[in-house]
Amino acid sequence: MRLIKSKEFSLTSQENDKFILRSISQQDIELLRVWKNDHRGSFFFKETITSEMQNTWFQSYTQTNDDFMMIVQQDNEKIGCIGFRLIKNTVDIYNVILGRKEFSKNGYMANALKIVCSEAMRRYPNKPIVASVLKTNPALQWYVRRGFVINAEFEEHYVVILPEAQLKQFGGKI
Ligand SMILES: CC(C)(COP(=O)(O)OP(=O)(O)OC[C@H]1O[C@@H](n2cnc3c(N)ncnc32)[C@H](O)[C@@H]1OP(=O)(O)O)[C@@H](O)C(=O)NCCC(=O)NCCS
Repeated sequence: MRLIKSKEFSLTSQENDKFILRSISQQDIELLRVWKNDHRGSFFFKETITSEMQNTWFQSYTQTNDDFMMIVQQDNEKIGCIGFRLIKNTVDIYNVILGRKEFSKNGYMANALKIVCSEAMRRYPNKPIVASVLKTNPALQWYVRRGFVINAEFEEHYVVILPEAQLKQFGGKI
């Protein structure tokens, strides 16, 4: 399955030259599947994703324009993933997973979030940037510590949003 050219890109960090966000290719989808299954308690979809389901997802992903799944790499190691997509004029940050526990609490995923928000602002100026977080997920506080605020409450989850002041902070080059 070939990806359209515009879905193949990478994002770098000015703070850390060994850190890169690289858009996924077919070679990454098994790893993404394993990470997602390992953390399924943190997400809406609670079933185990099979290889077949993952292939079907990737096939439809290749056909979309405004949906980008990135692998987070430090020193050429794949340590996690983070996605962003345009849904109804809103940028949705999704599938945020630190796949390799030994890299936790180093700020790598916070840096990935910052880079993705900057890229989203560049591509989609003035669009709100949000994430949906299950009420039971401690990651809610992780978003709050990165400047997100709760914007809406639903039965099972919150929608957090990056306020305008934070948007400006992420607007410059990282
Ligand atoms: C959410 C998740 C990605 C966060 O991973 P993490 O390793 O805690 O996050 P970071 O890499 O950003 O590390 C942040 C911590 O590193 C520490 N840190 C150390 N050096 C740092 C630096 N230079 N910059 C920033 N933080 C630094 C901070 O104490 C920070 O902790 P805090 O959030 O309490 O402030 C991870 O817990 C995860 O994969 N959870 C399961 C999936 C999930 O719930 N995803 C979200 C679905 S909505």
